[in-house]
Amino acid sequence: MNFPRNFRKMTPSDRRQWLADSVGQPDLLDAPTASAHYLNMADTLVENSVGIVGIPLGVACGFMIDGKEYAIPLATEEPSVIAAASFAATIIAHGGGFVTSATDPIMECTVYVENADAQMRQHIESMRDELEFGLVKLLHSMSRRGGGFRSLDILEMSSIPMLKIVCAIDVRDAMGANLLNTCAESIAGKLSNTLGINPVMGILTNNAGQRRARAECRLSASRAAMLCRGMFSGGECMRRFELASMIAHHDKDRAVTHNKGIMNGISALALATLNDTRAVEAAAHAWAQRDGAYRGLSVFAPDGDALVCSLDMPLPFATIGGSTGTHPTAQFCLDLLHNPSSPHLARIAASVGLAQNIAAVAALISTGIQKGHMPLHHKKNRTAKE
Ligand code: MEV
Repeated sequence: MNFPRNFRKMTPSDRRQWLADSVGQPDLLDAPTASAHYLNMADTLVENSVGIVGIPLGVACGFMIDGKEYAIPLATEEPSVIAAASFAATIIAHGGGFVTSATDPIMECTVYVENADAQMRQHIESMRDELEFGLVKLLHSMSRRGGGFRSLDILEMSSIPMLKIVCAIDVRDAMGANLLNTCAESIAGKLSNTLGINPVMGILTNNAGQRRARAECRLSASRAAMLCRGMFSGGECMRRFELASMIAHHDKDRAVTHNKGIMNGISALALATLNDTRAVEAAAHAWAQRDGAYRGLSVFAPDGDALVCSLDMPLPFATIGGSTGTHPTAQFCLDLLHNPSSPHLARIAASVGLAQNIAAVAALISTGIQKGHMPLHHKKNRTAKE
């Protein structure tokens, strides 16, 4: 895609025209104004629907991810998020852009059984084949798409007298919540029918540590200086980036805000594609404290004469099913991203999160955040008064 270099300077209607032409579906972005259509959709998605909340949708430009250019749709109410991501992404693109990878989209569900003594555990263990067979049957169509059942573990919880059954499933391009909950309830039902016990609950876990994506970029000293608006030498900027990473690793107060900056980009992409923003956020914050202390999600570390910036985190993004499949604007946003698979969208999300984080930290360690944000806030306040 040859994204127009002057996109920022175009009028909103020219930008819309360009997007509509490039995606080849001129009507989709107009859907929000077709209110009857949207009210119907709202009514199919939620109960007692009365309308739609409009969140600004913008496009972050300048991204180069694995050698390919991207224009990334972001839905956010916060001024400066899209400008900051585009600013950092453009500088990073000139240095080679982001290199990304992703795991398979594995999610887990859990079933909890109380007061399970050794004998009960043995009974459940002896049902393993039956449980696994039931799951494979239930996941037949997911298996045909390359996903499906992966593993079943029966674990004794150390802190309370409870058995926990954990089932891992490759959910391919779906978010997987319904499927995972169905599987959990099917396990619970089988335990109840065969052993006469009543599990406490069966439910997916949003702790999606197995469904991760990673983005990495290398900053030369001169690009680090550009990101810091030339306030310090390249070497000093790199040193300050590294210090910022160390502070976020060791101090929870800073880590929470550091990660909020990352989520500014990731949640905005989740919202634009109508993904479950709460699931993505929950997974991110659980991962941030996986070793017991809450830490920054990204790492900035020197490597030779460059600074390597990386972000590796759970990103449970779906590209089919749920609300994503029913919302025309979400569909438009996926079209703009060339209809990625779930792991591919997760890799784009990791790049957006890292760009957002690098832009925020660059401002913090140089001019300060207010100087970068103020002009945009002024614009917002002016518009509000008009
Ligand atoms: C503001 O929405 C996000 C920042 O606070 C992130 C950060 O401090 O890294 C600027």
